[in-house]
Amino acid sequence: MCWSQRGGPVTHVFRGTFIHSTPETALQVLEDALLGVDTAGKFFMPGMIDTHIHASQYSYAGTALDMPLLQWLNTYTFPVESHFKDLEFAKKVYTQVVKRTLRNGTTTACYFATIHTDASLLLGQIANDFGQRALVGKVCMDRNNSVKHYRETVQESVDETHRFIKELLNKKYPLVKPVVTPRFAPSCTEALLEQLGTIAKNNNLHIQSHISENIDELKLVKELFPDSETYTDIYHKFNLLTDKTIMAHGCHLSDKELTVFRETGTSLSHCPNSNVSLCSGILDARNVLNHKVKLGLGTDVAGGYSSSILDAVRRTLDASKVLTIQNPQHQTLTFEEVFRLATLGGSQALSLDDQIGNFEIGKDFDALRVNVAARGGPIDLVQFDHLTSYSLFPPICPLKGDDRNIVEVFVAGRKVVPCEDLALE
Ligand code: GUN
Ligand code: FE
Repeated sequence: MCWSQRGGPVTHVFRGTFIHSTPETALQVLEDALLGVDTAGKFFMPGMIDTHIHASQYSYAGTALDMPLLQWLNTYTFPVESHFKDLEFAKKVYTQVVKRTLRNGTTTACYFATIHTDASLLLGQIANDFGQRALVGKVCMDRNNSVKHYRETVQESVDETHRFIKELLNKKYPLVKPVVTPRFAPSCTEALLEQLGTIAKNNNLHIQSHISENIDELKLVKELFPDSETYTDIYHKFNLLTDKTIMAHGCHLSDKELTVFRETGTSLSHCPNSNVSLCSGILDARNVLNHKVKLGLGTDVAGGYSSSILDAVRRTLDASKVLTIQNPQHQTLTFEEVFRLATLGGSQALSLDDQIGNFEIGKDFDALRVNVAARGGPIDLVQFDHLTSYSLFPPICPLKGDDRNIVEVFVAGRKVVPCEDLALE
């Protein structure tokens, strides 16, 4: 016997002996019965993937957005990041960011830490302990920095990168990987970029950095690397563009550079909150997709003030609509396309699509259970016949839904939210 409560779509089926009363029978025993439960308004979606987030910058997210990139780095970012030498401070901030992003539905995060190896290892440990899938990068930089003690020599950077990789891999965390992380070309000499390219190649590691975010940055790059024709060429020359590389921003990349991205298998992380908050530019995500470059979404905390990847979803739609306002020929990204960027797109961008990104057979179960009418959540669900339940899906509905609608979070089949430990501070 099988029936569904309320006659709606059956989303849970229980098998067993059921005992209940009916108007006709005081006690009815149903042996070996199947019970289909209609959980309308609840569904599973793949966990979301933040392809670019500075864990260390969570400490000042939502503040200090009154300057463009280069001044912002020197005035706020480098001084704050230099504090992560203090492991107690690092532990506090890294615990908060891992808990908060998990609560927001980020099942995989690609993190920048700071130059400090021990604090970066701690970030890996915290992600592992809370059950988040993570790529963690110890930041490398040896020049152009306002804070004297927040800088390495080439040798220190190389030695500490080796130590970071070795010690992180030795921990054998099942969900955490190291990623080679030159901060961006202006922070790194050619000697450092070259060595980092070699380390990544010899160890078959992921690589992350920034590219072509802001016009002043492009001018600085031209001055610092007069022999390179384009920004992309610099990374390419040092073997830093691979099918395991993810570059953030790319607002000002030319079509020719995008072609190099496609040819090398390099991915882009679209960080729309940051791109607007720091007045950097607007990425034409449609053009990136047309060039068949792998694309994911990033919060880029703290250039982006929100740690929510749902915010990145909304802002990706906004950015695309702004481009359409400027040019009506521009083909606006659809809701569905942006949903894909936050999930499958992110997994492709991080070369993890053999493992995560959707519910295909054989992949790990990284998932969110969404309740469209969660108690305390902001949704007043109104069913319109002409909208499918999919487009009413609140977390990606551009104006509705937030972490309160995400009632359970699973990573590699293990439930990580809700859980006492994830109560927000
Ligand atoms: N370019 C180099 N470092 C950074 C950073 O920390 N944030 C952003 N948005 N861009 C960068
Ligand atoms: Fe960034």
